[in-house]
Amino acid sequence: MEGSPSFIFLLILFHILVTLRWTSAIEPSCRTKCGQLEVKYPLGTGSGCGSPRFHPHVTCAPGGGDGQLLLTTHTGSYPITSISYDNSTLTISPPSMSNCTSMQPSPTKLGLDWASPFQLGPSTFILLSCAPLTSSLTIKGTPICDPSSSYLCASIYTCPAVVTLGLPLFPPTNTCCVYSPASLNTKDDFDPYELKCAGYASVVSLGDVPTDPSQWQYGVALKYTLGGLENYNTATSCHSCELSGGVCGYSPPGNSFLCVCKNGFNTSTDCYYYNHGQDFFMSSTTQITCKFWLGLLAGLLFCMAA
Ligand SMILES: *[C@@H]1O[C@H](CO)[C@@H](O)[C@H](O)[C@H]1NC(C)=O
Ligand SMILES: *[C@@H]1O[C@H](CO)[C@@H](O)[C@H](O)[C@H]1NC(C)=O
Ligand SMILES: *[C@@H]1O[C@H](CO)[C@@H](O)[C@H](O)[C@H]1NC(C)=O
Repeated sequence: MEGSPSFIFLLILFHILVTLRWTSAIEPSCRTKCGQLEVKYPLGTGSGCGSPRFHPHVTCAPGGGDGQLLLTTHTGSYPITSISYDNSTLTISPPSMSNCTSMQPSPTKLGLDWASPFQLGPSTFILLSCAPLTSSLTIKGTPICDPSSSYLCASIYTCPAVVTLGLPLFPPTNTCCVYSPASLNTKDDFDPYELKCAGYASVVSLGDVPTDPSQWQYGVALKYTLGGLENYNTATSCHSCELSGGVCGYSPPGNSFLCVCKNGFNTSTDCYYYNHGQDFFMSSTTQITCKFWLGLLAGLLFCMAA
């Protein structure tokens, strides 16, 4: 049957099927979720998504199924654990941060980039197992420990995990220090090692039972600012883009506003037109139906040819 017309026809059909499969495998260039977190303007999952000012700092790294949203600064990359778009705040979880169940010796520096849109939010650092007595802990000659918050030290020192930091169970609290830095964007990073402390915890919320450190919410709270470049026009365009199911992005090199629609099309307005015009471009359901009928046809032809 070589060279017979039906065999050639089968080859063509096969080619069409492969092409269709390839078309349906295209991933949208900007995602609305990374891991468990909803990602929207000004954050983005990659280059061209969200705001250009946030892109080099926030990325959706592969891993853990749906990925992991990371904040990268000159001191490292930190998993983002929660975002409040209404309050322009987010929480990061530095890997060397301790909590009540698991304390991490050899903490590393933490700093934010001066030019990034992120600033330190209301976070309370608790320095643990410090070699000098905490009354003598200073930065540039200024004492940093807040004696009025020492009850937090008493609470966290009830966690049995303190032994990991070389402390006995229920240690005296004069090796612990509550420190609330105003900023992390200056040249001086938060450096527990330089302060001669064996670990640190950071608390964003004491929860319902402030004396129970196993119920505190650990993390470092950050605020972000949109800045003057994100003007009113971008804000309104972005709002209608998101309402139409699109993702706000930008197009280099001018970084003009771009609405990235689900079906792979980009517009300067919103996705309504593209949603309605979708049948023309073949939706994924149409593709599946097409594949089914083409497959059936191919099968029939094969039987006839055999
Ligand atoms: C649409 O925009 C995204 C994000 O800027 C980009 O990655 C993608 O290549 C663009 N797609 C088209 C078809 O231009
Ligand atoms: C946002 O701020 C309001 C008022 O300060 C607060 O009540 C609310 O819990 C915050 N939301 C989140 C998700 O942090
Ligand atoms: C405590 O820290 C460990 C190790 O970093 C982490 O796996 C765990 O989820 C943390 N627990 C809480 C309650 O934050």
